[in-house]
Amino acid sequence: MPLVNAKEMNINNLEWTKAILLTAQELNSPVILGVSEGAGKYMCGYKTVVGMVNGMLEELKITVPVALHLDHGSYEGAKACIAAGFSSIMFDGSHYPIEENVEKTKELVATCEELGLSIEAEVGSIGGEEDGVIGAGECADPAECKMIADLGVTMLAAGIGNIHGKYPENWAGLSFETLDAIQQLTGEMPLVLHGGTGIPADMIKKAISLGVSKINVNTECQLAFAAATREYIEAGKDLQGKGFDPRKLLAPGFQAIKDTVKEKMELFGSVDKA
Ligand code: 13P
Repeated sequence: MPLVNAKEMNINNLEWTKAILLTAQELNSPVILGVSEGAGKYMCGYKTVVGMVNGMLEELKITVPVALHLDHGSYEGAKACIAAGFSSIMFDGSHYPIEENVEKTKELVATCEELGLSIEAEVGSIGGEEDGVIGAGECADPAECKMIADLGVTMLAAGIGNIHGKYPENWAGLSFETLDAIQQLTGEMPLVLHGGTGIPADMIKKAISLGVSKINVNTECQLAFAAATREYIEAGKDLQGKGFDPRKLLAPGFQAIKDTVKEKMELFGSVDKA
């Protein structure tokens, strides 16, 4: 099915995956489970991720459309995820010169087409916090976006001033001028907005109206999970009865992820779109 205002919620472990899948099912929303290469490694590797997700789809009786998607994949990572059974990949060639990005994306588009997988490509790198330095979000060149879009990718991530992680106080906001220019050239191509954490609701809505069909959120779930877990421990609940049992200890964080995912699905307009 086409990705209409779908959203990518990144997963980090079993609790994350279960919380996102159950919320998507409850709200009758399609969902894309995003897995970064680091998170894939943390979860023991891509085969473990595929096994866990497929197991949950069956045993939790999930019937809404779910994609298992590699987030910001390298060329090698993309190939490994295709082999492991992911249904969607992102090849992030934005750090290569545009000719090399085109070359590698083209090859992966052909593989994905053959296997019936979806593929996201990226133009104009998305900034964010790295080693304590906050980089400004770059704006993609609309002409380069068209070059990549024309390769037959399923969706395109383009930098429009968005960044991963928390936005700095003096963030200039999304560049709707860039988004509009990209959309004018790429037409029907679904655009992807990375760095969904902390973008004000009015900007999200405007971005959707200008062609954004997939929004990635990760940090916001992490913050919600950490805050709820902190509250539980600071209240001394892990010291009461069997409060130290991980099934109890992680329960407030699990619920916090569910609440965050619900809020995002409502804001992004994916509820009842399954
Ligand atoms: P945030 O962590 O800022 O929500 O970004 C998520 C993302 O874009 C993953 O690719």
